[in-house]
Amino acid sequence: MKTLSLYIHIPFCNKKKCDYCNFVSFVDKQALMQKYVDALIEEIKMRGKKEGKNYKISSIFFGGGTPSVLGVGMITNIMIALKQNFRFLRNVEITVECNPETATEEKLREYKLAGINRMSFGVQTLNDKILKLIGRQHTAKQAKEAVELAKDVGFQNISVDMMLGLPGQKIGDVKKIVRFLVRQKVNHVSAYSLILEPGTVMYDKVKVGALKVPSEDETVEMYNTVYDLLSRAGLKRYEVSNFSMLDYECKHNQNYWKLGEYLAFGVGGHSYMNDTRFANTEDFDKYINSIENDTFPIVSVEKLSLNMRREESIMLGLRTREGINIEDFDNEYGGHILKDKKQEIEFLSSRGFISLRNGHIKVSENAYYVLNSIIMKLI
Ligand SMILES: C[S@@+](CC[C@H](N)C(=O)[O-])C[C@H]1O[C@@H](n2cnc3c(N)ncnc32)[C@H](O)[C@@H]1O
Ligand code: SF4
Repeated sequence: MKTLSLYIHIPFCNKKKCDYCNFVSFVDKQALMQKYVDALIEEIKMRGKKEGKNYKISSIFFGGGTPSVLGVGMITNIMIALKQNFRFLRNVEITVECNPETATEEKLREYKLAGINRMSFGVQTLNDKILKLIGRQHTAKQAKEAVELAKDVGFQNISVDMMLGLPGQKIGDVKKIVRFLVRQKVNHVSAYSLILEPGTVMYDKVKVGALKVPSEDETVEMYNTVYDLLSRAGLKRYEVSNFSMLDYECKHNQNYWKLGEYLAFGVGGHSYMNDTRFANTEDFDKYINSIENDTFPIVSVEKLSLNMRREESIMLGLRTREGINIEDFDNEYGGHILKDKKQEIEFLSSRGFISLRNGHIKVSENAYYVLNSIIMKLI
């Protein structure tokens, strides 16, 4: 039976949006949470009727926005709807994204009881000045306490998001958070370099010179520091921005990178099934109205051609430690990549940028800084 990942978008954030963020989330719609959860449950039922029997669920991800701002019991009710409408694999991975200031013991215990088996905390940095400067709603102390609380409640699979290239950030700040994560034996870390997104407060401030961010070289140095410290602690890089202890790789993200099928519920959710991408509306009211009228809130549909999937597969595969499985790739897309890209592959491997081992094309550990050029050569 085919497997499927599910993504549940929770588009609410606490008080104020972070200055760098352009994810679909609202800070003025808290009063509509129950209405939204009701709509989500309805969408799950509608999809379950259509697809529930054809798949087994391998991973579920509650992302945001900030799923942990939902009232007590809401995640449980969504989980009940999921269980009633889909069949789960026995080792299904179920993650909730959680912001430190909203992590109460009551909520974490609720998640555990509801079957959540992976917590992902957005910590970003443990420097209070920077946290304030980028508009976060928590302190370093709250972030540390949230991770400790999750361990006390019994979560064994804990991930932390951190950011690199933040205004005012120095190598020392990066070392501080990584050392904390290592001490806490956190088993998964996502380290994202800041992207200045047009339309965000931070983008505007940097543009007019009111705020300065570290140079690209400084950010690369931060990334290398993360890589070194985490590798030494046994957390291996398995994708450009993701590090984990053995067997704690995020199954949900691995499915995205393998171009596996996934269904997204909620405002702005993006799905991929039967070689087709489709997206839900980002308009909150339109989403609710559409579900209330028993209609899927889809606003765009795109069928991917074989060539588009092929290119995507190269792009995503090369970002991962596993690389591109040559046999699977040739079977899926036809042709012979080793012959079709003979010259390029010889050029890249003779310079040590890629290696061909165990039937895989992989980017060399020290060549990630030219990843985009490698990808461009092979697609
Ligand atoms: C979708 S956000 C939601 C998680 C949660 N609300 C939080 O803020 O911790 C997931 C992660 O994306 C990263 N992120 C968000 N905006 C970013 C940006 N502009 N550049 C780089 N990383 C970003 C942050 O590390 C964040 O933890
Ligand atoms: S809490 Fe997370 S989703 Fe919300 S604004 Fe901040 S980064 Fe974006």
